[in-house]
Amino acid sequence: MKKVITYGTYDLLHEGHINLLRRAKALGDYLIVGVTNDSFDRERGKLNVRNNVLERVEAVKSTGFVDKVIIEDYVGQKIDDVLKYDVDIFAIGSDWEGKFDYLKEFCEVVYLPRTEGVSSTMLRAESEVMVNIGVVGCGRIAKRFIPEAAKVDAVRINAIYDSSREAAEAIAPNPNLICDSYEELVGKVDAVYIATPHLAHYHQAKYALQQGRHVLCETPMVLRKDEAEELFALAKERNLVLLEANKTAYCPAFNHLITLIKSGLIGDVVGIDASESKLWGDDKLKRELDPEQAGGSLYEMGSYPMLPILKLLGTNHLNINLYSRRNSNGVDVYTRGIIRYHNALASFQLGLGVKTEGNLVISGTKGYAYVPSPWWKTDYFELRYEDQNQNKKYFYKWDEPGLRYEIQEFVSCIINHRSTSARLTPAESIAMADIMQQFGENKNLFEI
Ligand code: CTP
Repeated sequence: MKKVITYGTYDLLHEGHINLLRRAKALGDYLIVGVTNDSFDRERGKLNVRNNVLERVEAVKSTGFVDKVIIEDYVGQKIDDVLKYDVDIFAIGSDWEGKFDYLKEFCEVVYLPRTEGVSSTMLRAESEVMVNIGVVGCGRIAKRFIPEAAKVDAVRINAIYDSSREAAEAIAPNPNLICDSYEELVGKVDAVYIATPHLAHYHQAKYALQQGRHVLCETPMVLRKDEAEELFALAKERNLVLLEANKTAYCPAFNHLITLIKSGLIGDVVGIDASESKLWGDDKLKRELDPEQAGGSLYEMGSYPMLPILKLLGTNHLNINLYSRRNSNGVDVYTRGIIRYHNALASFQLGLGVKTEGNLVISGTKGYAYVPSPWWKTDYFELRYEDQNQNKKYFYKWDEPGLRYEIQEFVSCIINHRSTSARLTPAESIAMADIMQQFGENKNLFEI
């Protein structure tokens, strides 16, 4: 019996897929199809696949050409499968010409003609609603946001505003997108991405929500709990999406880490320690060290270490003590926080002008997770145990600068009418704002 194997995503199954499977089956007697897993697709940069893996498997089976469906989970699996299933022919569309010649060592490799004029990408583009996003605040982060948005389907940046026209001109791909006022921008878009200095967020987010626009707001969204509560209540009342743009929260590797730990792989979580620090020349850190613009290490970076702590230990802590060292302007260049829970303790340290190892360690009753610096751009972590033979390393792809994941989740929430995201919930954003507020009010805050 001649065995043939082929692989693909098979999203929105179309005529090209059906022709390919028919031709592949005709090469032998038994056809195996490897359908890519959702997480594997995300990892290799396919962020916009519409059908989930179960739907795609069903669609492939429904063609009637397939004898066995397997799931493709990892790079290198093709060699394993060819050997495991004793495959004679590996077949794939001609768009991959030459890319799988390395399999010739194990079986025959055939590139089949591709059907012209149809692809999943085309079908997704045709069926998709376009979300028009306006970018407000044209600094470093907005500059990175614009090319990242181009990587996500169904998104168009159609307006840009900054109180300095020069700043807007510096990042606008087209000068016609530049607006003369924030009100004009809000009037032109479906959603707003707020990347202004922290203290402008609350009023801008509130105004956009009041005008019926979805909001993706840079982190920290606001510095007071009541403001966060008010904005989320407003979004809920108007069926709008309000998300805090904390890039770690939406990154695939970080999410996998959280799900592994929540499924008990290191036992009960008893301690979390997270750090982040930046040591740049003071001239580059103008806003970040300006007390008038809510500068300082806690406001600037605090929402990142708070993220794993709130996700794993929850938003109901018993108390928080904060310890800060300030510079001559009164801005905290170093802040350490200790958060006490009923059965666990978490700590974080942040430096803007103090350097420390930026890693994340999550300690549990059966083992611990170690995420090396820079853990907030998670692409690799280890689960470690007393018996080192049990240790496991996990590797992922992180596409710099990593904003595409939050944009994709934001747009997916809008298109699919999901008003909140499990990746960073309103309760977690509100808890972050609460900690910022405690700091601002000097509660349980000790100077060092
Ligand atoms: N294929 C084909 N003709 C097409 C589209 C796809 O023969 N018009 C083949 C591919 O070469 C591959 C298989 O179908 O062997 C599965 O491809 P997949 O990547 O799932 O399909 P695409 O439509 O190309 O998807 P995308 O646009 O997301 O890349």
